[in-house]
Amino acid sequence: MVMSTIYGYYEANLQRILDDFCEQIKVANQAAKAETGFKLYEHLIARVKSPESMADKCLRKGLPVTTQSALKEIRDAIGIRIICGFVDDIYKLVDLMKGMVGVRIFKEKDFVFNAKSNGYRSYHLILEVETPFEDCLGQTPGTYFIEVQLRTIAMDSWASLEHQMKYKHEVKNAELITRELKRCADELASCDLSMQTIRNLIAESGE
Ligand code: GTP
Ligand code: MG
Repeated sequence: MVMSTIYGYYEANLQRILDDFCEQIKVANQAAKAETGFKLYEHLIARVKSPESMADKCLRKGLPVTTQSALKEIRDAIGIRIICGFVDDIYKLVDLMKGMVGVRIFKEKDFVFNAKSNGYRSYHLILEVETPFEDCLGQTPGTYFIEVQLRTIAMDSWASLEHQMKYKHEVKNAELITRELKRCADELASCDLSMQTIRNLIAESGE
């Protein structure tokens, strides 16, 4: 007997939906590169959250450990992080995703324009996508959520460092580290703007 996980019957759909979505983003990236000479992103990380982490997250949030909690209440079972070379690319990709057929914006947070107080920057989207599959509410075509995080390379390296500190208990010099991280986030943001300006100058100079 195969034991089913928190995702139940719907588990196999998650990877397919993720692969299909990534494929569309990759195709758009290649088209942009061919058309303008510039890529829309440098790389992309895609994952289906492990059933164990999802069950933990349900417990943490006080939700029953059910397929419906995992796929409808929590909306990051399917996740994509897109790492861009330049800030403008983030907004180009957001527009692109907004224009995709069968994709609806469920939630949108622009922490690029409005950084969090700790210095965190990223653009967050929860997309609701229509799929050929049944969903856990018994609807066909079913809808599934995809969490998308878009950031520059600089924002990404900052977030990894900050994440390391957040998940360490008992950090010595926590105050100093927090302050230095914030300062570093702002310096990186300023560099990202300069990089964008330089790229624009290069693009114009070639016209
Ligand atoms: P959950 O994190 O799924 O409970 O959702 P939320 O509603 O709090 O979403 P939010 O958009 O604030 O954050 C979603 C994800 O973004 C997190 O799981 C992290 O991966 C990332 N994130 C948000 N804030 C921070 C931050 O301050 N530092 C770092 N390193 N990552 C962050
Ligand atoms: Mg998450």
